[in-house]
Amino acid sequence: MKRLIDAFEGFFSAAAQSGTDVAKTAKFTLENVNWQETLALPEASSHPIVDAHLESACANSGSPGSNSHRIAQTLLTVSNQLRWRASSKCHDDGPDVAILSRNFAVVSIIGPGEPLTSDKVYAGFSLQAPDTYYPPHAHYAEESYWIIGGDADWRVGKKPWFPVKPGDSIYHESEARHVMQTNEQTLLTIWLWTSHLDSEVMIIRT
Ligand SMILES: [Fe+2]
Repeated sequence: MKRLIDAFEGFFSAAAQSGTDVAKTAKFTLENVNWQETLALPEASSHPIVDAHLESACANSGSPGSNSHRIAQTLLTVSNQLRWRASSKCHDDGPDVAILSRNFAVVSIIGPGEPLTSDKVYAGFSLQAPDTYYPPHAHYAEESYWIIGGDADWRVGKKPWFPVKPGDSIYHESEARHVMQTNEQTLLTIWLWTSHLDSEVMIIRT
């Protein structure tokens, strides 16, 4: 776990200096996480999507030495110690959400009560299988994403879809509607909430 914590700190240190829209949220993370003290890891559990697709996502994590490649390789070595779960805090029983929950896995690393504690930041990894649609959703939490492995199409609000690849980052202001569609590749991300950490994820049906 020490290895993953060091990798996270290194990841956010590099991201804070990147000059991107989300650099300020990486800096906020560096300043608001207790990097020295960790809680015991919860009991590990995997998810079929992790077993089937994590390795290929990490193989598509950018050039060796890049920030995305470094953390992907570290994640691979510790993934079997982590508690992966089916989805985030999303209460919706639509058939598209049921499909998503079979094709999307998430793990929390930083946050209240998480292995790396913070009361201002909530963060972890997500893994979205190929050809999977994450329906339009929103939450009060401000959110930053970094693409770690694989590519996908992304949409924020009513703006046009745009492609994402390792090294890219995306910022969602509070209540921004967002949608993610994977194609041939598995998508591995780091997600980061920096406000309203108790937010529920609301699927947008209108
Ligand atoms: Fe989100």
